[in-house]
Amino acid sequence: MNAPSIPFDRQSHWDGRYRRIGSERVSWHEAEPSRSLEIVAASGVPVTAAVIDVGGGASNLAGELIARGHVDVTVLDISEEAIRDARSRVQDPDAIEWLHADLLDWTPPRRWELWHDRAVFHFLTEPEERVVYRRLLRDALTPGGVVLITTFAADGPESCSDLPVRRYDATHLLDELGPGFTEITRGRYIHTTPSGGEQPMTWVAARFGAQSSDAANQPLGATSDPSRGAYWSK
Ligand SMILES: C[S@@+](CC[C@H](N)C(=O)[O-])C[C@H]1O[C@@H](n2cnc3c(N)ncnc32)[C@H](O)[C@@H]1O
Repeated sequence: MNAPSIPFDRQSHWDGRYRRIGSERVSWHEAEPSRSLEIVAASGVPVTAAVIDVGGGASNLAGELIARGHVDVTVLDISEEAIRDARSRVQDPDAIEWLHADLLDWTPPRRWELWHDRAVFHFLTEPEERVVYRRLLRDALTPGGVVLITTFAADGPESCSDLPVRRYDATHLLDELGPGFTEITRGRYIHTTPSGGEQPMTWVAARFGAQSSDAANQPLGATSDPSRGAYWSK
């Protein structure tokens, strides 16, 4: 007889990673979230706009946005450890809205003008999970809002944190968002892990719903030509 399978406890898994490895030694850590900051700044999203970093973990992005004048920043993560750590490193933790929730079991209480996801979507290996994510995007973004998603590239790692991932090129990633999103720009870069490993990453930025301004057509990165993409390397 097969042994009963133990249900996967997502929160314990992620809390354990942060606790055991430490938020500055986990493979996805970046001392400065410079690429995200660059894209956010170039996206034309004003500092008054509402921004959410989903699966933000212990990233410094929220604190850096506040330091740059953003006034409405939310971080959502399933890991209490990560949120505790992130809170402890920002100058004014109360300037940020911290949401402890499982993205896949969450009802957005409001809408945001920028949805930022670095290295969360690629863990959604089940089609049903991606359906939920697509619904969340539509429920959480304002019309004309911007989504910026970064995942492992098609030639990136096959797993992370002992979990399988799906890898994407930018076209595939954009397709995953479903109808209603207009590409702004896309890119690729190499993330260097704290232990020196190299991880190819893909990102896309897209606007939700009707394009309300010319900003949708402005380049965010090195190029606005979606057929070429913007390719960075470290
Ligand atoms: C690879 S880390 C990336 C963290 C952060 N975005 C960064 O770039 O440093 C993935 C993060 O997503 C969080 N996460 C994973 N699954 C989640 C879910 N279902 N709901 C909310 N957060 C989740 C984890 O706790 C972790 O902080």
